[in-house]
Amino acid sequence: MNFEYSEEQLMIQQAARDYAQRELIKDVLERDARSEFPAEHIKNLASLGFMGMMVDPKYDGSGLDAISYVLAIEELSKIDASASVIVSVNNSLVCFGLEKFGTEEQKQKYLRPLASGKKIGAFLLSEPEAGSDATSQRTLAEDKGDYYLVNGTKNWITNANSASTYILIAQTDPDKKHKGINALIVDKNSPGISLGPHEDKMGMRSSDTHSVMFTDVKVPKSNRIGEDGFGFKFAMQVLEAGRIGIASQAVGLASGALERSIAYSKERKAFGTVIANHQSVAFKLAEMAVKVENARNLCLKAAWLKDNHQPYGIASAMAKQYAADIAMEVTTEAVQIHGGYGYVKEYHVERLMREAKLTQIYEGTSEIQKIVISRDLLK
Ligand code: CAA
Repeated sequence: MNFEYSEEQLMIQQAARDYAQRELIKDVLERDARSEFPAEHIKNLASLGFMGMMVDPKYDGSGLDAISYVLAIEELSKIDASASVIVSVNNSLVCFGLEKFGTEEQKQKYLRPLASGKKIGAFLLSEPEAGSDATSQRTLAEDKGDYYLVNGTKNWITNANSASTYILIAQTDPDKKHKGINALIVDKNSPGISLGPHEDKMGMRSSDTHSVMFTDVKVPKSNRIGEDGFGFKFAMQVLEAGRIGIASQAVGLASGALERSIAYSKERKAFGTVIANHQSVAFKLAEMAVKVENARNLCLKAAWLKDNHQPYGIASAMAKQYAADIAMEVTTEAVQIHGGYGYVKEYHVERLMREAKLTQIYEGTSEIQKIVISRDLLK
């Protein structure tokens, strides 16, 4: 085992840290308050190569490994998890699936602008009545010969408004259940697509989340990814990769909360000394640090397996479940350490706590990760 990062990995980590701590920090509180999409920041992150980090440079990506991706997402998430989820969805749920399973023509047309960050992508799986139970897709993509006719509604879609390209999961043949599901590339400006209102979320407030309605939307057959009926397995494999990104985001929220708690406890005085000198606080910090380290290591292991072309679905489910759950615990403790200051916006930790909650829900709840892990144990 080699626990050392390469020079390149350290350079990417530093670049993400610099951008987050110099730029994202400036207006993160205002964007959170206003639920405002960080459009300029996403452009800047694109020019730094963060929107298609693992995509081959021949498709305008940065050609980096998954470990660099984990390190970068952690750094961005320490400061602004709303920005990092926009980056993560584009990288893992959109670019990854297109590069791995798309045709050459699809990659030239759709992957290139997504990997360079000229365009943003979204992944449309969840529905009003199909969240965790992802095989129960009701959105129909009827086979009409040389095109699919799509009708239905998708819910909780990250990047729904900012995206130009949708990866849509829809049912073509309900009799075949999950084997009748397809994955289609859809241009967001296709006639018949409309968006619900911007969701007024508890956290991750500046990523744009909407429902998306499809009414008689025509999608060319050439936009189907993989063979007929491959859509569910496509979605599952894409989510395996996506979960590494969200797990890293959860690590960033937890490590950001820990860093703020260390700094605060070395300044804040109570009972005649800084609160770091009180064992009740120092032990909390120690416990938080162990959890962050464990979660980070799980992410790095999943990323290492992916980089080394080994199965990583169970590792990514473990990383996602553990990191999301400890992110909630660590950010809650951070608020406790900050006391009353932790409960107001200026000190950031209440925002980190609100954001951590979503990591236990999206890209597969913590309970779904336990289904994936336990089925593997018991198979
Ligand atoms: N890779 C390849 N194939 C897989 C797979 C994987 N990781 N997981 C399952 N499959 C295959 C199975 O082998 C099976 O195929 P066969 O019938 O050929 O054997 C088929 O898929 C069905 O699998 P299951 O019987 O296991 O299906 P299930 O109904 O029990 O569900 C589940 C499995 C893991 C619970 C799945 O439904 C799931 O992951 N649900 C959660 C969905 C989710 O993560 N949603 C998040 C939305 S995206 C999002 O949040 C994005 C965002 O914007 C931030």
